[in-house]
Amino acid sequence: MKSSLVCVSDYEAEAHKSLPRNALDYYRSGAMQETTLHENKEAISRWYIRPRFLRDMSIRSLATTILGHRVKVPYGIAPTAMQRMAHPDGEVANARAAGRIGTAFTLSTIATASVEEIAEHASDTLRFFQLYIFKDREVTANLVHRAEAAGFSALVLTVDAPHFGIRRADIRNKFALPPNLRMANFQTDDEKSSLLNTSAGGSGITEYVKSLFDPSLSWDDVAWLTRITKMPIVLKGILTAEDAILGIEAGAAGIWVSNHGARQIDGVPPTIEALPEVVKAVKGQCEVYIDGGFSQGNDIFKALALGAQMVFLGRPMLWGLACGGEEGAYSVLDILKTELDSVMALSGCATIKDITKEMVIRKEYYAR
Ligand code: FNR
Repeated sequence: MKSSLVCVSDYEAEAHKSLPRNALDYYRSGAMQETTLHENKEAISRWYIRPRFLRDMSIRSLATTILGHRVKVPYGIAPTAMQRMAHPDGEVANARAAGRIGTAFTLSTIATASVEEIAEHASDTLRFFQLYIFKDREVTANLVHRAEAAGFSALVLTVDAPHFGIRRADIRNKFALPPNLRMANFQTDDEKSSLLNTSAGGSGITEYVKSLFDPSLSWDDVAWLTRITKMPIVLKGILTAEDAILGIEAGAAGIWVSNHGARQIDGVPPTIEALPEVVKAVKGQCEVYIDGGFSQGNDIFKALALGAQMVFLGRPMLWGLACGGEEGAYSVLDILKTELDSVMALSGCATIKDITKEMVIRKEYYAR
């Protein structure tokens, strides 16, 4: 890796130079005028860290657990679609990098590597499978069973995408998956799947999703999933206490606070603002995770202090991948590890358990 790349924003800037417009805009953009995209990051900076000193920081650990699995760092990889647009090794490279650092990788339903390929090439990595529910429930059930057979440890049901948000850059670009790539979890010789490679009118991904995904998705489907799989179910995309409670009632083992990287509704709260209400509502009955705008170890620290068990990264991993495949992805994860370890040492937290809510405070407190 280039020695000039020392933080995630360096990787982002470098990726911006090398990625073709179609892919870069697809990866980068948020919904509509991208207010929430900006605010995800802005809101993290509204929390300040309250460091404690003279606490013997000579021995430290970043290890934690997720769904009973031990991980070496309290952050993992969020599902992002079509990673082979960033690098020929795509999802395989990201999954392998996760394994090397000792954390979880989440594979998207609409990935350019299949569940079986990931299992084969990243057999030591803790693997989660992100599910979109298709109108054809047999297709959906088949995917779930394949993920289970391939040794995936959790099913992450994305609840915030009955259809895809309006992403203006993709409409302008008539976003299409390059012809050499395919949705690896499916046979793509049928007419609907080919929508992605062509794009008749606007964004190819939006057309694909409209034709295949089921907008009638409801809480009954969560109950259905719990019946057809033994994998624990995580609900991804929750932003309110009300839905978190319904999620627990429906049998979720984890609630993943997310606004889909600000790609669905422009104008929802930044995720770090939604986190405290969800943590409070969940009352420790299941684990709570978060993603959205996290790009430094210090950002991760703040979410852990506010009650997240684990933080997930979307775009940072695409930038790492674009800059150097598995090595680039690993470097991004490793930089975050160094940064998180540093902020823990500097603020008096030797272990993840020490990162309690007293460690952070809202910026407004100091304006009193
Ligand atoms: C996503 N996200 C996403 N989520 C999901 O459940 N299934 C998917 O296929 C995708 N695909 C996808 C593609 C791209 C390019 C992006 C940027 C995001 C959302 C993703 O899992 C996560 O919620 C956000 O990316 C987190 O925000 P950051 O880390 O990108 O700021």
